[in-house]
Amino acid sequence: ARLPGCAIYHLTMREAPVEILPGRHTTVRTFDGSFPGPTIRARRGETVIVRQTNKLDVPAAVHLHGGHVEPQHDGHPMDVIAPGDSRTYVYPNRQRAAALWYHDHAHHLEAENVYRGLAGLYLLTDPEEERLGLPRGEYELPLLLRGANLAEDGTLIYDATDVQGPDHGTTLVNGRPTPYLPVAARRYRFRIANVSSGHAYVLKLRDGSEMIQIGTDGGLLPEPVRTGAVSVWSAERADVVIDFSRYPVGSRVYLDNTALFGGETRDVLRFDVVREARDDSRVPERLVPLEDLGPAATTRTFALSFDLATGRYLINGAVFDPDRVDARPRLGVPEIWEITNSDTRIPIPHTFHTHLEQFRILDRNGVAPPAAERGRKDTLTVHPGETVRIKVRFSTYTGRYVFHCHMLEHSAHAMMGQLQIE
Ligand code: C2O
Ligand code: CU
Ligand code: CU
Repeated sequence: ARLPGCAIYHLTMREAPVEILPGRHTTVRTFDGSFPGPTIRARRGETVIVRQTNKLDVPAAVHLHGGHVEPQHDGHPMDVIAPGDSRTYVYPNRQRAAALWYHDHAHHLEAENVYRGLAGLYLLTDPEEERLGLPRGEYELPLLLRGANLAEDGTLIYDATDVQGPDHGTTLVNGRPTPYLPVAARRYRFRIANVSSGHAYVLKLRDGSEMIQIGTDGGLLPEPVRTGAVSVWSAERADVVIDFSRYPVGSRVYLDNTALFGGETRDVLRFDVVREARDDSRVPERLVPLEDLGPAATTRTFALSFDLATGRYLINGAVFDPDRVDARPRLGVPEIWEITNSDTRIPIPHTFHTHLEQFRILDRNGVAPPAAERGRKDTLTVHPGETVRIKVRFSTYTGRYVFHCHMLEHSAHAMMGQLQIE
């Protein structure tokens, strides 16, 4: 149903058979039978209401990653939908255009639930973005990337004990291994999201050609970044324009992942340039300016570590305790967060994510971040031995939210803390 100023979706979380490998069926966990979940499209200022019914035999909580939503609609890990129950989530969409995504967040279950399929894209647009003239319609495509451990018969295997991570193996794009995409010889805009639990993608065109990164997690960058490599770690998004007009019709253009960990497939996607096309899209030299967050009043430190003795993943020496509040930011007051990854003996990267607000990366080990990281971020990678400083201002809602490592195997092992915004 589409009422003026408001859209209502009914989604049922249920098991469904899908073909990941052609001709071979496997049962996955879906939103409405779709793997990955259906893409939800929203406009700034129009409320989206999603009624979720849980027909799985496990609890689930649906979180809109990157969304500015009230605490009771945020999908807090303890605020779950029991099997058989339904729940209505309200998304006010008062933030900028951005590629958000929705996924399960039930405590301890999120890694398996997301791996088995509970993830989908949520594209929020606004007039400011629409005015820019970027490629749109059939020339704007989502690319949800993730890893999958597939048995020969096509079964999706979840093995939490796999030392390389349960999602190592085949790279899936929108649920399919190395698809090829017929494209016209013109510009395309790709909304890339890494929805894998632990894998990194550093994407390059095999012929070395340039791509134009125009946005990150929280929306468009202030200006386009021309680059040969686009990185997305767990939960990060990249908004990327590729211009196929440089290729003659008949060309095959490969997009590769160059960040390979144990046995992953290199080919992500093959573009087949099949026809000429008119192109009246543009990539303006100025996109969307960054707002000034103002001077920070408080500094907090977050130490990320893996405790070899206990096998636990810790933030500031502790695992998640739903009865404990770890930080109490004041509404509208900017803060500096200093996030350190001390895991150098066993080098484990962590991805730090906070709910509710996008932040700015100030520096990595004292050095300004690369241009593609100078936008609105909600997830960042902290490499072993690194300290990253961010500035964040919670300015929409008060209440309780979580922050956590977005390597989902880590958050499922309670690498998470709580904010109480006051
Ligand atoms: Cu993608 Cu707590 O979130
Ligand atoms: Cu989130
Ligand atoms: Cu981690």
